[in-house]
Amino acid sequence: MTSVSLSTSAANALRADAVVVAVAKGPKGLVLAPGAETVDEAFDGKLADVLGTLGATGAEGEAVKLPAPAGVKAPLVLVVGLGDAAEDGGFDAEALRRAAGTAARTLHGSKKAGFALPVGDAASVEAVALGALLGAYAFTAFRGDEAKAAGKAPLGEVSLIGAKRGDKAAKAAVERATVLAEEMNRTRDLVNTPPNDLFPKSFADIVTAAGKEHGLKVEVLDEKALAKGGYGGILGVGVGSARPPRLVRVAYTHPKAKQSLAFVGKGITYDSGGISLKPAGHNETMKCDMSGAAAVFAAVVSAARLGLQVNVTGWLALAENMPSGSATRPGDVLKMYGGKTVEVLNTDAEGRLVLADAIVRAGEEKPDAIVDVATLTGAMMMALGSRTFGIMANQDGFRDKVYAAATDAGEQSWPMPLPSELRKGMDSPTADIANMGERMGGGLVAGLFLQEFVAEGTAWAHLDIAGPAFHEGAPYGYIPKGGTGSAVRTLVRLAEQAAEGAL
Ligand code: BES
Ligand code: ZN
Ligand code: ZN
Repeated sequence: MTSVSLSTSAANALRADAVVVAVAKGPKGLVLAPGAETVDEAFDGKLADVLGTLGATGAEGEAVKLPAPAGVKAPLVLVVGLGDAAEDGGFDAEALRRAAGTAARTLHGSKKAGFALPVGDAASVEAVALGALLGAYAFTAFRGDEAKAAGKAPLGEVSLIGAKRGDKAAKAAVERATVLAEEMNRTRDLVNTPPNDLFPKSFADIVTAAGKEHGLKVEVLDEKALAKGGYGGILGVGVGSARPPRLVRVAYTHPKAKQSLAFVGKGITYDSGGISLKPAGHNETMKCDMSGAAAVFAAVVSAARLGLQVNVTGWLALAENMPSGSATRPGDVLKMYGGKTVEVLNTDAEGRLVLADAIVRAGEEKPDAIVDVATLTGAMMMALGSRTFGIMANQDGFRDKVYAAATDAGEQSWPMPLPSELRKGMDSPTADIANMGERMGGGLVAGLFLQEFVAEGTAWAHLDIAGPAFHEGAPYGYIPKGGTGSAVRTLVRLAEQAAEGAL
């Protein structure tokens, strides 16, 4: 695991495999960012010229390696682009996270690097530390022994240059970044784990073990307990699989908590579509369908590690959606936890079924708010693309708070409506509601379905992370291929606000 520490050494004087500096796109061309001064001196003040000659512009994502000149102890200088410099000459946190992420990715295989990026305040320290730790991520657990032996390890050690001696705020910033990065990387590991290894029971066992480590209360309902409790949604989705479903409750409590939050995660460890089978081309990435549950789990552990004065309960609705002789059929009616009946018209709309049970159960404990997280609909990807999640809620004010928390946490999201006229499309001639409605606005239809299961008077928001949970393109910034850790930072920010009594 990569580690970050603060260093008071000068950039040119640090003993390391590489020293990282940054450049930005200024109005009149490439400009060096603060932090690069001593390295620039070693280039006789000509670092910007050298980079210009090489065609560098300071654009985001740019990474240029230069052999270090005499006067720089590290043998390699890595220059990363920050994109456009802000008018006040500052850099926003996301630009710093991305540049640090690009640097850590580029330095894969190195033992130690000094990051001499602009870190004038604690927020910038946190951004650089987080970007570096997330950018260094690699998932190698399932490579063969030979590949493992030959492969490079992630960047081992990051020294943040520019720290003031005894700066408590900077130290706290590194600590927060370390918790967030390790927990996002935990989410990434779970999402990337193949579905023959991660299934409801094995996922629940992982939560139980982490609960012991972090002092969390973990309760697991197995298929027998689910049947006894009347959890028809989770059972109906899981009944086609040889690997039975689970509902996991993982709780963090603080004696001085002012507010309580319930986080509910969709945990479909594999979504084949069930009897409404997905066609080839649509199921290769469906191990990612438990990303919501992984994010919820990581957020609860984060709240514990940060010692937040809040009560946070995570509900992980875990099932594998498979077609078989015992699977739920399109046309079947399920009796959900709490008594509502649902006609299953499409077994591929399974996320809302497992979430509905968990939302009703979470609501019984009367939390101040419920937030569910789910890779719920392809329609949300159609609407917002693959980097932005949608936020729906039963109160506009609460939706605004969640959107503000996401933005503050550095996650791309957008508020979406729940138009009431879409509800009638889910009217069923047989049951209280059908699990499918109009095709148009499918992401909002799914949100309206979930809303039916929220207890009266409870604030609720729904994050549809189908787009950003799993990255299929080339890595960029601190985002690798595969699981991303989407929604973890937003949930942790919400928990921090609840700890202030601000939700
Ligand atoms: N897990 C999928 C949604 C999804 C699609 C997540 C792509 C990530 C990437 C979900 O269970 C699903 O299949 N939804 C259907 C709903 C439809 C049948 C009403 C969809 O979006 O097509
Ligand atoms: Zn599905
Ligand atoms: Zn699904």
